[in-house]
Amino acid sequence: MEKVYQAGTHEGMIDFINMEDLELAATQVIPSGGYGYISSGAGDLFTYRENQKAFNHQLVIPHVLKDVELPDTTTYFSDETLAAPIIMAPVAAHGLAHEQAEKASAKGVSEFGTIYTASSYASCTLEEIRAAGGPEAPQWFQFYMSKDDGINLDILEMAKRNGAKAVVLTADATVGGNRETDRRNGFTFPLPMPIVQAYQSGVGQTMDAVYKSSKQKLSPKDIEFITTHSELPVYVKGVQSEDDVYRSLDAGAQGIWVSNHGGRQLDGGPASFDSLRYVAEAVDKRVPIVFDSGVRRGQHIFKAIASGADLVAIGRPAIYGLSLGGSTGIKQVFDFFKTELEMVMQLAGTQTVEDIKNAKLRENRFMC
Ligand code: LAC
Repeated sequence: MEKVYQAGTHEGMIDFINMEDLELAATQVIPSGGYGYISSGAGDLFTYRENQKAFNHQLVIPHVLKDVELPDTTTYFSDETLAAPIIMAPVAAHGLAHEQAEKASAKGVSEFGTIYTASSYASCTLEEIRAAGGPEAPQWFQFYMSKDDGINLDILEMAKRNGAKAVVLTADATVGGNRETDRRNGFTFPLPMPIVQAYQSGVGQTMDAVYKSSKQKLSPKDIEFITTHSELPVYVKGVQSEDDVYRSLDAGAQGIWVSNHGGRQLDGGPASFDSLRYVAEAVDKRVPIVFDSGVRRGQHIFKAIASGADLVAIGRPAIYGLSLGGSTGIKQVFDFFKTELEMVMQLAGTQTVEDIKNAKLRENRFMC
């Protein structure tokens, strides 16, 4: 008989001190194949590990006598007012972590008060994700394009119909990274992917197989295609260099998403945080920048915003919170980041998110 995949079921408050504890606790509720898929990275995990270490390349300078009290993380972004400059990253298959999957994560993120990015490879439909977030919740749609433009048009129409305010084009995953943990575990997706089911069922398939059936040859024309047909702003995700910024903006991208896919794609590349300043310089404030990969602390968020990011996206930690406490657990993770960010803001003498943007980090010359 086929082994049934049993993800987390608890809905309610969870106990943790930091993200390391949370991940350890999550290993107890997420089955090993699913946990391996969510947690791991590519190859030797060099880039995966650098993502966290690189935040130490730049230092937050404490500032005293700045007349700061109760710092305010409220973020005005486009026409949204967000609780903090922190948003949900697109992560595939939340059903691996919790039986309520994206229904719980979209609810928790909406209750926190920020943008939810739905993955093309979600375990729930966009209708369910929309309903769980509520009609007012800001949601973006992350797009893995199909080789078939008819299917692409249908999916874009579905995203629009379900209120997506932006399309995030994942551009750095035209082939799977070398995920050795998945190979060791013989991991295949136990659950369907209803959004992309026209070209990809997911069930019983490896990540490599899933990637192979989506469009592998992406070009700037794809940005134009999405913009023309959806009339939604396109964020290009996976940008780490100046020339990719120029190529994306020339094709009409209205946002740049700095990411190395959490170290899950190209191993041996730079930490996402190290790429951020180059990208920010090339963008030169023309469009918003979203940043992800390696964020585990409020000080990481502070450093990313001070280095040019407008929004910081949370991936794995949010999924660990989801696995342990459903919508409440994921909201607690967002609260954790907000609370830590407030503490850093206070100690760095910054009252508002705008002040963080103007804060100067100091290069860590003492690092070996
Ligand atoms: C991954 C994809 C699906 O990294 O985003 O597994």
